[in-house]
Amino acid sequence: MKKTVLVSGGAGFIGSHVTVELIEAGYDVVVADNFSNCDRTCYEGVKKITGREDLPLEVIDFCDADATKKLFAKYPIDAVIHFAAFKAVGESVAKPLMYYKNNLMSFLNVLEAAQEKGGCNVLFSSSATVYGEPDAVPVTEATPRKPAMSPYGNTKVMCEDILHDAVKASEGKLKGILLRYFNPIGAHPSALIGELPRGVPNNLVPFITQTAIGKRECLNIFGNDYPTPDGTCQRDFIDIVDLARAHVFAVTRMVEGKMKKDVETFNVGTGRPYSVMELLNAFEKVNGVKVPHKFAPRRPGDVTAVWADPTLANTEMGWKATRPIEETLKAAWAWECKLAGK
Ligand code: UFG
Repeated sequence: MKKTVLVSGGAGFIGSHVTVELIEAGYDVVVADNFSNCDRTCYEGVKKITGREDLPLEVIDFCDADATKKLFAKYPIDAVIHFAAFKAVGESVAKPLMYYKNNLMSFLNVLEAAQEKGGCNVLFSSSATVYGEPDAVPVTEATPRKPAMSPYGNTKVMCEDILHDAVKASEGKLKGILLRYFNPIGAHPSALIGELPRGVPNNLVPFITQTAIGKRECLNIFGNDYPTPDGTCQRDFIDIVDLARAHVFAVTRMVEGKMKKDVETFNVGTGRPYSVMELLNAFEKVNGVKVPHKFAPRRPGDVTAVWADPTLANTEMGWKATRPIEETLKAAWAWECKLAGK
């Protein structure tokens, strides 16, 4: 019997890539999204890549508790992957209540519906943001979490805690995996799905690709006076397809009953830091394009350097990042060119 996975926020950047990998691994997927921060491009792209014209789509706001319960009643859900959340750090500082309400309420409703249905495996999309500015790098899952630097980051910390508490009190009905993502970048090699930022991109790679294509005049590099080898921040840039595959390993581990604890946490990163300058140089080199750029003041809230020790995910889940950064940056560029009709 095929297992069914509900992917909340399944039409977004990460959700659509995860849906492809789950389908290719033999899972049935129900995509659920309210399209508040994306359009149907990626959902349509997933159908093309997988050949699943009949891919179930539920247009739902997970802040609606009754609708969430009805959705859980409609399908035989073996696992839920929860992506449905707001994700812009700066916006969360300006609109904290909106972020707490949306990101916490939707997750609470999912957990409640899952529990009322009799139980479920829950995968929560957490973030390296929970490590804040770490005292030492790379960070392992045992590295202490730091107070969040934004309401967005705080919702990740709080949802991690909520999952722990809910699983503990569920008398075995709920089990959970927390995946802490580092910096997901790139696009599917088919160029049928990728990142679709609304307005001016906050994240580095979409800003690079939009500048390279001429949509933006100049990339600002936020800070070149950090205590790093070249003065720019260092991050663990993880290919979106590699990251998506980590979800297949995690879901399989849950549904096959291979977990060693009721809640497990894994870093999803490469273990290799790239500075902002290194990434920019690599992008220009592999794609043969120039990206106008200049140094600008530091961006408030940025950490100096964070990258993963992915050993636990490598050894316990059997997952490892495999796509070379060159392929990732080529895919990001191919996607931007496709969007521009080039
Ligand atoms: N950067 C620039 N110019 C830009 C955009 C980004 O120089 O136009 C720099 C940033 O200053 C930072 C690096 O590129 O040093 C990466 O920035 P991103 O915004 O791409 O990614 P962050 O590391 O800030 O954010 C990521 C996720 C967030 C998460 C955060 C903390 O996108 O969701 O990590 O873990 F909260």
